[in-house]
Amino acid sequence: MKPVTLKDDIYWVGSVDFNLRNFHHYSRSPMGSTYNAYLVKDEKNVLFDTVDDKHCDELIRRISEIMDPTEIDYIVCNHLEKDHAGCLEKMVELCKPEKIFCSTIGEKFMRAQFNTENWPIQTVKDLEQLNIGKRNITFLETRMLHWPDSMVSYLQEDKVLISNDIFGQNVATSRRFVDEYERPFLLQAIKDYYYNIILPYSPLVLKLIERIKTLGLEFDVIAPDHGLILRTPDDVNFFINSYQECAEQKPKLQAVIAYESLWGATEKMAQAIGDGLSSVGVPYLIIDAQANHCSSIMNALADSGALVLGSSTRNNMPLVSMISLVAHIKGLKPKNLVGASFGSHGWSGEAPKMLTEELTNMGVEIAAEPVRAFFGPNDAEIAECVELGKKVGEALKAKIAAL
Ligand code: FEO
Repeated sequence: MKPVTLKDDIYWVGSVDFNLRNFHHYSRSPMGSTYNAYLVKDEKNVLFDTVDDKHCDELIRRISEIMDPTEIDYIVCNHLEKDHAGCLEKMVELCKPEKIFCSTIGEKFMRAQFNTENWPIQTVKDLEQLNIGKRNITFLETRMLHWPDSMVSYLQEDKVLISNDIFGQNVATSRRFVDEYERPFLLQAIKDYYYNIILPYSPLVLKLIERIKTLGLEFDVIAPDHGLILRTPDDVNFFINSYQECAEQKPKLQAVIAYESLWGATEKMAQAIGDGLSSVGVPYLIIDAQANHCSSIMNALADSGALVLGSSTRNNMPLVSMISLVAHIKGLKPKNLVGASFGSHGWSGEAPKMLTEELTNMGVEIAAEPVRAFFGPNDAEIAECVELGKKVGEALKAKIAAL
């Protein structure tokens, strides 16, 4: 693949990771991902971010098609996570830049990760400007979107936002632009990424969208560090609106029933809970947590308003897929959910109660007491599961009606 021109003298020079399936332990990435880096030719030539260290050669090859990498004057590090800073050491050695720009926390992270002796690091503050010739760059700090060091770079004259991880998607393809894809595909890619990475910082996303409006920033191009690049007004609006919607987390009329079942009894309970949800008009998904990665359950939650967790009990605990699922969900801090729990047991049966405690700790509105089955489930226990499904469904409908 050749470098790709975004605007005159502004190029994508990143790399495509077609075979990436574990997006650095945040989520699965069944479509791979890209590490986008950008090169701007001006009186000062600037490289924005680098790529994962396994892809350095690809980055250098693309830059070399535009200029000799030693002609790079400045390197801007919007974020020091390894997928963007993986080649930083190599690039500094190769380019010998006059300056390396990053946020104050970025400097700390840079010095902790690399031998930065004699590196010409210059920290920039929020809204600080840098002239590189015909262009001015404004740096905006975006702390905790999604790391403390994160910032974005705005090329004022070109109206290009280099947005780092914000607005990314895990899509590996030689196509480089959002307008080469259909909206349903894009929306799914946005949600997959948002719900497994950005979700805990949703209040900051809403503030950032507000801030963009207050500052009157206009975008011809939004160039994220993962996936496809936005270059039409419709796509820019679509992404910003999708982010707004993801950040608001308004409950949707769908329930996710996630479970792990030792011998099939807990699975039967899940199906009965589904019957209860259906009977009050709430669609549902049943997802086996052992057979699916926890990130796919987060993807399902993006279109839901209820989370019902089920597990058999073993050694006084829920089964391990459910423990790991709870840890994943808890860290992502989803909001505005109703829920409940259930599970079968042969001995002590602590799991459903423990799952309800976890849901409570996550701020989920508990719609029903946990349902437990002793082996079974027998007819009475199935009826209790149907009732639980109804209660969750009614609570979800009430929550949506109250919006
Ligand atoms: Fe794409 Fe936070 O690194």
